[in-house]
Amino acid sequence: MSAQSQTFYNDKVVRQFTVMTVVWGIVGMLVGVLLAAQYYWPVLNFDQHVSWLSNGRLRPLHTNAIIFAFGGCALFASSLHIVQRTCHVRLISDGLAAFVFWGWQAIIVAAAITLPLGYTQGMEYAELVWPIDVAITVVWLAYAALFFGTIAKRHVQHIYVANWFFGAYIITIALLHVVRNLAIPTGWMSSYPVYSGAVDAMVQWWYGHNAVGFFLTAAFLGMMYYFIPKQAERPIYSYRLSVVHFWALIAIYMWAGPHHLLYAALPDWAQSLGMVFSLVLLAPSWGGAINGILTLSGVWHKLRTDPILKFLIVALSFYMMSTFEGPMMSIKTVNSLSHYTDWTIGHVHSGALGWVAMISIGSLYALWPRLLGLKQMYSTKWIDTHFWIHTVGVVLYIASMWIAGVMQGMMSRATDPNGTLVYPEFISTLIETKPYYLIRLAGGVLCLIGMGLMLVNVLKTLQQAKNPAPQPVLEPDAAQARA
Ligand code: HEM
Ligand code: HEM
Repeated sequence: MSAQSQTFYNDKVVRQFTVMTVVWGIVGMLVGVLLAAQYYWPVLNFDQHVSWLSNGRLRPLHTNAIIFAFGGCALFASSLHIVQRTCHVRLISDGLAAFVFWGWQAIIVAAAITLPLGYTQGMEYAELVWPIDVAITVVWLAYAALFFGTIAKRHVQHIYVANWFFGAYIITIALLHVVRNLAIPTGWMSSYPVYSGAVDAMVQWWYGHNAVGFFLTAAFLGMMYYFIPKQAERPIYSYRLSVVHFWALIAIYMWAGPHHLLYAALPDWAQSLGMVFSLVLLAPSWGGAINGILTLSGVWHKLRTDPILKFLIVALSFYMMSTFEGPMMSIKTVNSLSHYTDWTIGHVHSGALGWVAMISIGSLYALWPRLLGLKQMYSTKWIDTHFWIHTVGVVLYIASMWIAGVMQGMMSRATDPNGTLVYPEFISTLIETKPYYLIRLAGGVLCLIGMGLMLVNVLKTLQQAKNPAPQPVLEPDAAQARA
């Protein structure tokens, strides 16, 4: 790399990941909408004649596309942007950055081909077959080298708190991915996991829960800690609280996984441990969210005019909602009602569509014009429209699933005075649930339309920018500079 290019930030990789976030968001939500339609019109499974269109194949495609492609690209874009701007230094290697981008896209394409074809390890959120797992490990290590290498070369003394959250997520996801996917290959598309029985279940939900905790939560909190102060033009409400938030969150998350295995073959003490840690998790989750929201102290009026801030703050409200609901669902007696029902699906999407998608969408609307040297997106009005369409969509989705879930739980435990089950057949709950599946579908369609609007806005903004000049690396203040 020439000395000349060292003086500019590497925004190319950030732009590439930003555009792909929107593209994969549309793909992931489209598959989600198709799934939601299948629940209402089972005929859309095509009676299993077109096997790759069946719910069993499309469901993992949806989760992988939306979490690892949409969420993943949003995290690559924001972390690689934030690390450069807060460390006042260019990424350590353009080659490594390009490798991470193209490597991740290749992995997504491989997933999009193998999952519909039915190649799977059969482990939730870790479905991909072992050759793709090996590729993920290689690309992830390259990403870690890029991120931590840039931190090591920083020109400022301090490491901003957002980078701590990204750092924890990068290390933890590496650990989770390798431990969960340890397997003995039996062919190019098949393998046996090294664990079995209750141990396998424990490893699965240690993995699954921390994937939620570090991929869908800690990393997006990193995004929040950078973009809310930036957009509000205020320092974070309490820097001290953000540090306490960081250590408390990462210390507690690791132990909460057994709440996915309540009343299972796991030892009782492990289930209770998971329940207690989940309840404690409420405190750092809300502490962090309040820290983000109070950053607006003194500038609340901006919420009236800035739809990007609306996205960011409402995302935090959904985060608070899902991190209140999660601990409640971890209480064994509550879980005996919610487990096996659509309440879980409502909880997932208040976290996923409410928190993850809204914080990503808001952050990217803030980031995109800045990357192109522009003051704002092509249309602020469209951002506002997107905000309302998305918010109504999320509310329709989660409210319908909550009502359906509680109803299913109540129906399946209802007994008559003789102690006989009133609804002994599963189909009875399904019939009652049908109208709610239509409402969920309507909510999903609204979210998808919103993403379409975002894509047009992103492309129009790009058109306006013509040939954006590279942005010079800013010299830090003398007081902040690294000795
Ligand atoms: C304090 C924080 C949280 C706690 C204690 C918590 C707790 C729980 C509980 C008890 C379940 C149901 C387990 C079951 O009955 O099978 C669950 C499911 C789930 N939660 Fe949370 N949750 C929290 C936050 C979140 C957030 C913020 C998200 C998303 C961004 C999220 C995503 C999920 C997902 C994806 C599942 C479904 C897992 C599966 O069965 O496939 N959770 N959570
Ligand atoms: C248009 C928006 C969306 C629609 C219509 C949609 C629809 C669906 C449907 C129908 C399911 C299957 C539910 C079931 O098995 O009963 C599902 C599962 C899931 N979705 Fe979405 N989804 C959307 C957006 C998202 C987003 C943005 C995320 C994450 C960032 C996400 C993460 C998940 C997860 C983790 C599951 C598995 C839940 C579990 O196993 O408990 N979805 N989605």
